[in-house]
Amino acid sequence: MPLIALASARMPTRILGLSAFYHDSAAALVIDGEIIAAAQEERFTRIKHDHEFPRHAVDYCLREAGITADQLDHVVFYDKPLLKFDRLLETYLGYAPAGLRSFMMAMPLWLKTKLHLPREIRRCLEGKYRRRIVFTSHHESHAASAFFPSPFEEAAILTMDGVGEWDTASIGLGKGNRIELLKTLEFPHSLGLLYSAFTYFCGFKVNSGEYKLMGLAPYGEPKYADIIRERLLDLRADGSFRLEMRYFQYAEGLTMTGREFERLFGGRARSAESMITQREMDLAASIQAVTEEIVVRMARHAKELTGAKYLCLAGGVALNCVANGVLLRDRIFEDIWIPSAAGDAGGALGAALFTLYQLVDQPRRVNARDSLKGALLGPSFGDTEIRALLDERAVKYHHFADEAPLLAAVAEALRSEKVVGWFQGRMEFGPRALGSRSILGDPRSPAMQSQMNLRIKYRESFRPFAPSCLAEDAAEYFEIDRESPYMLLVADVRPGHRVELSAEQSSAMRDPDLRSRVNVPRSDIPAVTHVDYSARIQTVTEDRNGRYYRLIREFKRQTGCGVVINTSFNIRGEPIVCTPEDALRCFLGCDMDLLVLENCVLYKSEQPELSAEEKASYVRSFGLD
Ligand SMILES: [Fe+2]
Repeated sequence: MPLIALASARMPTRILGLSAFYHDSAAALVIDGEIIAAAQEERFTRIKHDHEFPRHAVDYCLREAGITADQLDHVVFYDKPLLKFDRLLETYLGYAPAGLRSFMMAMPLWLKTKLHLPREIRRCLEGKYRRRIVFTSHHESHAASAFFPSPFEEAAILTMDGVGEWDTASIGLGKGNRIELLKTLEFPHSLGLLYSAFTYFCGFKVNSGEYKLMGLAPYGEPKYADIIRERLLDLRADGSFRLEMRYFQYAEGLTMTGREFERLFGGRARSAESMITQREMDLAASIQAVTEEIVVRMARHAKELTGAKYLCLAGGVALNCVANGVLLRDRIFEDIWIPSAAGDAGGALGAALFTLYQLVDQPRRVNARDSLKGALLGPSFGDTEIRALLDERAVKYHHFADEAPLLAAVAEALRSEKVVGWFQGRMEFGPRALGSRSILGDPRSPAMQSQMNLRIKYRESFRPFAPSCLAEDAAEYFEIDRESPYMLLVADVRPGHRVELSAEQSSAMRDPDLRSRVNVPRSDIPAVTHVDYSARIQTVTEDRNGRYYRLIREFKRQTGCGVVINTSFNIRGEPIVCTPEDALRCFLGCDMDLLVLENCVLYKSEQPELSAEEKASYVRSFGLD
């Protein structure tokens, strides 16, 4: 029996999923099993990781479908706030009086908003929605976001994150239109929080710097891995573990780690923006190695429990594409699938899908390519709108009525080492730009990586950029035998494309200053090849990626190379651009050479130069990430 009766046998079921009040608020709209729209709030408010109620994202989703809130059948929130409150209270009591300060800091928001969510959600929907509000559990939402849009009829599910209500990881089984969670791991024992503790200790921001820590790992040796295994963890064969809590402070304090942790790892935490030393590189390599070991053990256990052929992953830890690459290489499962928004933003979509299938009991149609539509679920903007903006701003642009000459001109610019802002189609859902809101460059150029980092992104980076590769050429460049449409798999550059290091380059690789190491070319596509020859790959196909695919194909026609650099269209600390106006502002605010807004092309050389102060003020308008 479905738990929620269908509103009417003939009416489509319209479900709005929401995630909010933690980080990465988002909204997603599903109508009769089709994912109509999904977007993160940060893109509209221009506040990175915005955690407020996703008012703008909701408006956008409803607008995209041409409906109003009173036409919704269900509104679903992605976790259960009362259970979360229960965890907060119990943790406080367990650690009292040590946790009093953090408890007191968390309380006002709980009392004002989080404990009254139904009221709050109704208020934000302007009183138009009068039906029940559904609450799914945090890991049910993650599991649903991983399985229901996947290309599998049946699959094991593994979710891993910081913490939901109580759970920090789960193993489940998805079959048809149902998922069942079979096993969970509970707070404070959390792989996500363990990784975040090292992120914090290495001087990066928790909940956003994890990606940097993963990128730092290949520079280090896993010297501390044994200490982590022996002192911080009691790891079991099934991948479950207990953390030795005297080393961590996240349960009761305002920081992730404390004195005991410092004693174990040779001194204080690195302060943000200070020089990265070998210790941080070794710590990153160590926690990455231990994370991979835990993920592999959990996956093996999921295989034992379910006997399934395939695996779906979600939760913040599923964004660790290096661990995903290891899972794939270990061949525990025949294939794995990870949604583009594997973190909490994706919980909004998961909550909506969970309601549709599990509660309303709608039959599920499996799409062999997955049901995420290439993650292109956000707003798009038409030619008229774009030209009106450009005319109003009196900027010089070239309009192309036909696609072929436009692509030829852009590919030509790319191969002349120009940096191209590429804005087309619907915005991506999830943290990665996938060719709709991207900055592109020529991966063959050894200078490109540092150029793009310093002139465009305004950062010193030790991370290479990611490649977008024609799907049919991926196996020629990389050791990968399947698609990676959401840039969530890492694989090595094939030996045939690697280059031997000269004696001088080898000695540069021992330079304590990472900046010297990062610029040593490792392959014939150096800007996208990491120091250990790995690359986080996006495979691009014409049916999913349309014009972006045709651009790379044109670049290949001109150069013989079916790969471009793809980095997100933003500067440091800025959310990825959403509107043509955001893109224009970013283009003028940094040293990008070309901007493509659908059919319009703008050359920087033809625009009046912004003053240094104007550019600096643009950069200052975003906090460091
Ligand atoms: Fe989560």
